[in-house]
Amino acid sequence: MLTRVALRAAAGRGAGVELVSLRDLRLTFCEGCLSCVYRGGGCKKEDDVFWLYETVSRYDGLILASPTYLLGAPAQVKALIDRGVAALAVLPGRPEIPTGTITVAGLPGWDYFAPPVVNQLGLLLGGRLVGSLTAYAPGPGEVLLDDDLIRRTEELARAVLEDRPVPTPEGVCPVCRLPRGESARQGPCPFCRHDPARPDALHRFSRESLTEFVTDWMLPSRERFLANREEIKRLRVPVLETELPVLRPERLGDPE
Ligand SMILES: Cc1cc2nc3c(=O)[nH]c(=O)nc-3n(C[C@H](O)[C@H](O)[C@H](O)COP(=O)(O)O)c2cc1C
Repeated sequence: MLTRVALRAAAGRGAGVELVSLRDLRLTFCEGCLSCVYRGGGCKKEDDVFWLYETVSRYDGLILASPTYLLGAPAQVKALIDRGVAALAVLPGRPEIPTGTITVAGLPGWDYFAPPVVNQLGLLLGGRLVGSLTAYAPGPGEVLLDDDLIRRTEELARAVLEDRPVPTPEGVCPVCRLPRGESARQGPCPFCRHDPARPDALHRFSRESLTEFVTDWMLPSRERFLANREEIKRLRVPVLETELPVLRPERLGDPE
């Protein structure tokens, strides 16, 4: 509902807008094979994750919204983050897109992990977060009863449209827009590593840092892995041969 409110506000100011619902997409989980990094060429899974990463990079602005499920964001949102490793490996050079994030929860204090996950997805999709709001309304569509929330959502849409960062209050990181926490008042933000004392230094999710992460850390880990592959194969044998009763739902039949 709030995504629609935001897009309606942007459209009212002349923007061309389009809505993507994760419900419509086929999203599968990362299996950790690392072939996207070690072999290159993307991910062999045939679903809509790459379509989303590619499509988003063609837009001038982005509004991301998510409900809160059991203190965090729903699994679909985390799946997109995990699959982002493959997207990063093949889609470098994305522009920084002005992005606003919205997280809806039922109850203050019961949304601990949700904004970090939603905001991280925004940053991984190539967003520069210009604003981030959290809303509390438990029932489907209940957000619409809150006039102030509607006003703040429309304001967020305008901030995205005008690429105008909403100022962050004291103690909130201006890059990931998350509270830095009492123990991290000084030094870099523990989440995105933005350092207020060195505003020009790159944060963890900047295009350059992510590219560097893939090329300088993930790719070289391939050589180490290959150098040790025979040893790993040898060590795997007794672990895999350990007799363990495998439990699977009956419908999958006997594992043998
Ligand atoms: C499975 C499920 C788990 C939920 N867990 C939480 C939670 O941990 N904390 C919270 O504040 N709200 C929780 N809620 C409430 C949702 O955040 C709220 O219903 C939703 O954000 C309302 O937005 P919607 O109109 O998109 O459904 C949960 C709702 C569902 C369906």
